[in-house]
Amino acid sequence: MTDLSQLQEQADAELAAVADEAGLEAWRIKYLSRKGLLPQAVDRLGALPREERAAYGKAVNVLKQSVQSAYEARVAALHEASLAAELTAEGLDVTLPGRRPQVGRLHPTSRILRDVYSIFAHMGFQIYTGVDVESDLNNFQLLNMPEGHPARDMWDTFYTLTPGVLLRTHTSPGQIRVMHGHAPEPIRVILPGKCYRYEQVTARSEMMFYQVEGLAVGENITFGDLKGTLVAFADQLFGEGRRLRFRCSHFPFTEPSAEVDVDCIICGGKGCRVCKYTGWLEILGCGMVHPVVLRNGGYDPERFSGYAFGMGPERIAMLRHGIDDIRYFYNNDVRFLEQFA
Ligand code: PHE
Repeated sequence: MTDLSQLQEQADAELAAVADEAGLEAWRIKYLSRKGLLPQAVDRLGALPREERAAYGKAVNVLKQSVQSAYEARVAALHEASLAAELTAEGLDVTLPGRRPQVGRLHPTSRILRDVYSIFAHMGFQIYTGVDVESDLNNFQLLNMPEGHPARDMWDTFYTLTPGVLLRTHTSPGQIRVMHGHAPEPIRVILPGKCYRYEQVTARSEMMFYQVEGLAVGENITFGDLKGTLVAFADQLFGEGRRLRFRCSHFPFTEPSAEVDVDCIICGGKGCRVCKYTGWLEILGCGMVHPVVLRNGGYDPERFSGYAFGMGPERIAMLRHGIDDIRYFYNNDVRFLEQFA
């Protein structure tokens, strides 16, 4: 019997000293496996004199159960401890604020373009595109600017090594392309796209920018139609009540011609860097399609008339958002771009 209580003490003490799963397994093999100390103690029963067997059997059973359950408790405790250690090691603080995913957004120019498309689409205009690399013929000659015409200086551009091939300086050559594709059908289109200018880059002018050309050709189209269309457009784009100013101007491809200004939203008309201290911001050029251009496009100017306009979406974005320098648009600085949700 003292053997048994010694065995119990020894098993308990060693179990308490076990520190990890490997130690626990060694302990189990030593005490509980088939040839372990506990089965050995049970086996000794057979060698005892008959009168001692009952008491020994009882005691060894109690011992077996106690050691077995101590083992199970230790297994559970060790498992819990290792789980807790794992959790602290791979600590996850669920109270930390999450990381916001970066979401891209439309460029301010794209946003204006979409608004412009939608307004003109509702007025029955179709959207066409021209090409960025144009011919001298379409960019100048057929727009009533023959070689050597002084107005070409206002639209100086980048030339390719191929004679007569250049980067278009305005979307107006698209007028010729659309007319050639439609004559003598009536036309009502807008032509958005990029333009290029060889000129000094300043707060108001870039070497690359967008334009949206508009063209309507048909019978009995008047300057009144042009004005009505542009006023309706401005009301929808800027909200009702902005002032528009039609200023006499000159373009070789329209007659009469006008430039249209909106009152400067940045300075409220007082005068600032963007509006060149005039209180007005020029947003487009327009006019009645010149008879020469109509004829170049395949329309008889005796029968047909038309109007055209060309506007700058960056100018419009500047006006809408109070941006005072056009160079921000294509610097691709995300701190600028991400302001336009
Ligand atoms: N193409 C002109 C420009 O770039 C704008 C314009 C378009 C003027 C159509 C009249 C008619 O300045």
